[in-house]
Order: sequence, then C-alpha cells, then structure tokens
Amino acid sequence: MNVNILAIESSCDETSASVISNGKILNNIVATQSVHEKYGGVVPELASRAHQQHLIPVVHEAIESSGISKKELSAIAFTKGPGLMGSLMVGVSFAKSFAFALGVPLIDINHMEAHILAHFIDEPKPEFPFICLTVSGGHTQLVLVKDYLDMQVIGETMDDAVGEAFDKTAKLLGLPYPGGPLIDQYAKDGNSKAFQFPISNMPDLTFSFSGIKTAVLYFLRDNLKENPQFVEHNLADICASVQYTLIQTLMQKLKKAAKQYKIKNIAIAGGVSANSGLRKELETLAKEFKWNVFVPKFEYCTDNAAMIAMAAHFKYQNGQFCGLDVSPEARMKI
Ligand code: KG4
Ligand code: ZN
Repeated sequence: MNVNILAIESSCDETSASVISNGKILNNIVATQSVHEKYGGVVPELASRAHQQHLIPVVHEAIESSGISKKELSAIAFTKGPGLMGSLMVGVSFAKSFAFALGVPLIDINHMEAHILAHFIDEPKPEFPFICLTVSGGHTQLVLVKDYLDMQVIGETMDDAVGEAFDKTAKLLGLPYPGGPLIDQYAKDGNSKAFQFPISNMPDLTFSFSGIKTAVLYFLRDNLKENPQFVEHNLADICASVQYTLIQTLMQKLKKAAKQYKIKNIAIAGGVSANSGLRKELETLAKEFKWNVFVPKFEYCTDNAAMIAMAAHFKYQNGQFCGLDVSPEARMKI
C-alpha cells in the first residue's frame, strides 16, 4: 500500500506544505512572508496572521500538484516546535482538523530534527553516526546523529543564534530583514581580513554570538563618528570580515566536536547553511581533515515542509503518531 503524507511547516515566517509518497518528496510549496521586512525582524502577531492567510492556498497547491487526492493521504504531519507559539498554533490546529476530517493519523515533528533529516531527501545521504551543525535564525547546535530518530545535542549557543548575529549585523548596516543572505552577497566582493572582530572563547562545545553583535555596534559607532559615509564606502569589507568571524567561530567548535567524537561524517543544516562562505570553508576543512561533508540543496536549507515530510516518513515507518489532543511546544528540544 502506498504511504502518502501531507506535511505542514509554520514555525516562524514561512508557510509551507509538502507531499511525500513512499519516502519520495513530490513537491515543496513555500509562501514567504514579506510583511516583516520593514520591521527588521519577525513580528510574531503578523506572522500568525500571515500563516492563516497562506496556509489553505499552500496546502491546496501541494495536494493539487502532487497528483494524489485527499482520500489517498495516509497521515498528516506538522511542526510541533520549536518556534513562535502563534505561528505553530496555526499549523497544529489546521493539521488536527484535517486529520480528523479525513480520519487519518497525525504525526508531530520537531523542527530541528527535520532540518537534519532534510539530508535524506536527496543523494548523497550521510551514513550514521554523523555530526550535524544546525545553524538557523533561532538555533546553533552541534548534534550527534546516531540514527534517523536518535539524536543528541552535544553543543549549543548560550545566547544568540548565528543567524541572529547575521541578521542583527545587517540591521546595524541598514540592510533589510533577513539580512543573512545580503551579508553573504556583499561579502563576496570584500576582504575578510580588512577588519578584525573577536572570536568568542567559550568552553567545550558551547557557542556565544552576543559579543560580536556588540563589537560590531561599537566598531560602527566609532568609525561613523570620523566618517559618516564609512558604511557606504566599506560595506563589502565589513560584511566579509563579520562573516569570516562568524564562520571561524562555528568551524572552531565543529573541528573540536569531530575530534572529540572521532567522526568524519559532517553535515550542515538550517538557514545559515545556505551561506556560500560557510560552504567554501567546509570544503577546505573536508580536504584537510578527510571529512565526508554533506550540504543540503538551497531549498532544503531554509524553512520548508519537505524536511517535515521526510521526518514524518521515518516516524510513520516506526508507527510514531500523536493524538488529537497534541499542543505546540515553543521550546521543544531534540
Ligand atoms: O532555518 P531558517 O530558515 O529559519 C529558522 O528556523 O530560523 O533560518 C533563517 C536564518 C536567518 O537568520 C537568515 O538570515 C539566515 O538563516 N540565512 C543566511 C543565509 N540564508 C539564510 N545567513 C547567512 N547567509 C545566507 N546565505
Ligand atoms: Zn528552521
């Protein structure tokens, strides 16, 4: 019998739906919310309202383009957490009602596990065990992945996420939200050694990104006092230097984790894994340390429902379903 699952993602500011059939992703429909741009960050109340507007058309498109009818769906999957409570609530409520109406089981998915399981959508797929550096707007984690649904967080940030550091730096530079991709773009034409910012020195596998944000703030304030056009004249060099510092901070801990756990299969996941500087640095390290490196396709790096569908496929195989009384969990852990 065919196993067809409809998956919904609504944890932050992308409304997405995907259909997976017998482990194969058929589509990945994503509606991005532009309403947050002018505020320099995601406004939770506006995010949940936009999910309400986008969810039905997005689900409709996913089902239509899959060629699978509603009656042929075997289960409905959704992101349970972590994420913004109001945003999660929209996806959870919809998934519950849809599953109830169709009389099919519900599958609750952890968004951070799903980012990692995005690696199993396409070839080449990593072999277990592997270490995944998950870097997004809300998280920075080193995860030891022992099996599809057996993961252990071995390091994480004690303050800001690295995506937040990218976005906050971009905001200080007057760039719109989300600024991470723009920093990446400008950095391509800049000199990464032009300016120096501190690399945090946290113990073990712990990250910290709040220091660099403050360092950039003071650096800009001091230079703008001397030259009001400092940012315009040095944008590429500033972006390249900040990006370099953030990447070095990540790579230091990744090297430490690989050595400590004696693991050579290394993966990256989450929105920041779309960063071209990070991808390049990882390739260099792969050669130096003989790592097998796994990087997801761009469309599966940032938030999407295909990764939720992939995770749901593995939970379906294990018979792991949830009840209609399930609630979202904003701070859900791996
Ligand atoms: O995983 P994601 O889509 O959403 C969360 O779960 O947070 O990650 C979004 C984050 C944002 O901070 C965004 O600026 C960052 O990923 N990002 C990038 C790039 N593309 C997305 N950061 C740096 N370089 C990029 N190319
Ligand atoms: Zn995410």
